[in-house]
Amino acid sequence: EIYLGREGPQPLGTVKLQEIVDKAREVSKGHSDAFDFVHEGAGTNSTSEANVKAFEKYRIVPRMLVDATIRSIETSIFGVKQISPLLIAPVGVQGIHHPDAELATAGAAGKVGVPYIMSTPSSRSIEEVAQANGPGNTRWFQLYWPRTNEVTLSLLKRLKDNGFSALVVTVDAVVLGWRSKDLSNRYTPYRHGFGIQVGTSDPVFMARFGKQPVIDYHPEFPYDPDALDKRLAEGDENVAEAVRTGQAWGNEHNSGIYRTWEDLKFLRDNWDGPLILKGIQSVQDAEMAVDHVDGIVVSNHGGRQVDGAVPSMDALDAIMRSPKVLEAQKSGKFTVLFDSGIRTGSDIIKAVALGAQGVLLGRPFLYGLMIAGWKELDDIRGRRDEVLVKLDF
Ligand code: FNR
Repeated sequence: EIYLGREGPQPLGTVKLQEIVDKAREVSKGHSDAFDFVHEGAGTNSTSEANVKAFEKYRIVPRMLVDATIRSIETSIFGVKQISPLLIAPVGVQGIHHPDAELATAGAAGKVGVPYIMSTPSSRSIEEVAQANGPGNTRWFQLYWPRTNEVTLSLLKRLKDNGFSALVVTVDAVVLGWRSKDLSNRYTPYRHGFGIQVGTSDPVFMARFGKQPVIDYHPEFPYDPDALDKRLAEGDENVAEAVRTGQAWGNEHNSGIYRTWEDLKFLRDNWDGPLILKGIQSVQDAEMAVDHVDGIVVSNHGGRQVDGAVPSMDALDAIMRSPKVLEAQKSGKFTVLFDSGIRTGSDIIKAVALGAQGVLLGRPFLYGLMIAGWKELDDIRGRRDEVLVKLDF
């Protein structure tokens, strides 16, 4: 259809990532700091660039004259059949790009049957995202671990009630990275704590720390730091209340700085699905993880945390040479996932060939959100097979 169509694949009009990036930059023109927040990495960008470049070092050796009448990219992750090894990475505050925010991305993932990982600082609540994602679809939750056990337990209960099957604990972002562009722009979507609905709408959190958040990324309240600052300066009580609640949550949900391997027992005891650590980059930590959890995401957060960190593919290569990790993976007790730098289908083949059982995609789907949001996705609803052609490799 793409070859025969006159206007290229809709709604993006192209399958070339660079053209998609350019288009996303163009539509975000009035809000370029939000685009920069996504596009840039930490420090000099050395890690995010190295992530992408690392794929060049690993090349595919194609084999010929094998019967390929039946081709399948199906796989099984934590015992659940998936249409491909691709998962949507957890990405916070999607409301800064489009009012549909996580409802668009979770909805689209559900429609095409790709597992969706919801981020803790999402712009929409657990309940809304679950509903948008739809019944029967695989959805996981990424946890930034709250300080207060009762809040954590409340989140875990809401997740279970809403069909989230695995918990991904992100361990590589205990403090915000040195993001040069965001610092120059004086930009952080977390500035007032707005839109982190997951936390601020939690009933236990509200009872302890604040009231119902009064502002979110509702279309009538698009994220606009300057306008919010102005209203704050004018003494707008609604805004002031939202800031207080948001800041309390920001403080609440960032306990990673003092968590250690021993603390994982609390999550183990209170979460009966798979427990996964995201942000593992060393062989030592991967081997520790084998003794503590069900899986890891080898990841450096898309190069947004430590400038100069090892490219994620090189970390995967080293980790998959560990006899302990290999043995645990082979026995089915331990799952290795990968992200940071995946841009094409052949990147996925390379990561899978090195030993990853699934890969998470970060920035690329956000460019799509910026350009198209949810409404324009109407025409791909129910066209799963055709959409999959675009992922074909
Ligand atoms: C992220 N990532 C992320 N990870 C996480 O565990 N929780 C989060 O809230 C976020 N938020 C977030 C925001 C933005 C704008 C980006 C780009 C990334 C990291 C994400 O899950 C993933 O690890 C990387 O994006 C993967 O790298 P690529 O695919 O972007 O190169």
